[in-house]
Amino acid sequence: MSARLLPGGPVAEAVLADVSDRVARLRERGVIPSLATILVGSDDASAGYIRIKQRQAAELGFASPHDHLPDDATQADLESAIARYNDDPDVHGLLIQYPVPKHLDYDAALLTVNPDMDVDGMHPLNVGRLSVGLPGPLPCTPAGIEALLAHYEIPVSGREVVILGRGATLGRPLAILLSQKRPTANAAVTVVHTGVPDWQRYTSRADIVVAAAGVPGILRPEHVKPGAVVIGAGVRYEGRRLLPDVDEACAEVAGAITPRVGGVGPTTVAMLFRNAVQAAETLS
Ligand SMILES: NC(=O)c1ccc[n+]([C@@H]2O[C@H](COP(=O)([O-])OP(=O)(O)OC[C@H]3O[C@@H](n4cnc5c(N)ncnc54)[C@H](OP(=O)(O)O)[C@@H]3O)[C@@H](O)[C@H]2O)c1
Repeated sequence: MSARLLPGGPVAEAVLADVSDRVARLRERGVIPSLATILVGSDDASAGYIRIKQRQAAELGFASPHDHLPDDATQADLESAIARYNDDPDVHGLLIQYPVPKHLDYDAALLTVNPDMDVDGMHPLNVGRLSVGLPGPLPCTPAGIEALLAHYEIPVSGREVVILGRGATLGRPLAILLSQKRPTANAAVTVVHTGVPDWQRYTSRADIVVAAAGVPGILRPEHVKPGAVVIGAGVRYEGRRLLPDVDEACAEVAGAITPRVGGVGPTTVAMLFRNAVQAAETLS
């Protein structure tokens, strides 16, 4: 292993320290920032994720009201829970835990969330704001990757970034974000996917490669330019086993690389709280 490691933990700590200061300032003027969560059904993993977020919300000084709807909740039940939080002046951020049971339409429900309360940054209006460069909550994983590169002072402006994957939560919004005119972005971005069978030709010339495919081990050392920066964001779970897109041996070729565990995960969660405090500042 020769590459410098880029753990997400210190990046998340720095972001959360800023969030914590902003929460304190809101509380000083009598505003208690509030991040509401909605969970539908009895999936253990989803319930666990919600508990972790609620614990962290409490540690940061957020109120965290929660609705737990039963497995057989209807679309109308879900949307009326969303409407209640939308209309509650004491609630600023709203998170619907994904996935919802198969009989429900998550995208339709998301459309009913007040876009300014959308802490995931995935409401179509917010994706539109991102596309045209208007301020708004940013999608958490892409924003976390930009913050990670900035934290480790990895130059992005003017460099070639290749993203493997064009998914709606990761590859596509990341491409928009990193091509924007900002000192921590401003890159020449190329997105490759299954429609580009020789995608290796692009990744192997990139200064920064982001693996965002969700295909274990897809990015191998021969697909990476020596000294390049490798960000592993795509993962697949087999039971509790986490299988990253980035083959371990990439660390022998890359100049810097995210660790297999604790890379973009912590930065994603930190961005959720950054969106939540931003929502409280905007709406209070
Ligand atoms: N760490 C985190 O916090 C975090 C957060 C969000 C997502 N993720 C992970 O990131 C990954 C992507 O998420 P997503 O929601 O964007 O997924 P997605 O919608 O399934 O997108 C996957 C993309 O990868 C491309 N792809 C798949 N197999 C490929 C192959 N063999 N060759 C070339 N391209 C291939 C697909 O191409 P086509 O478009 O041509 O099908 C698609 O564009 C997933 O593993 C997800 O778990 C992680």
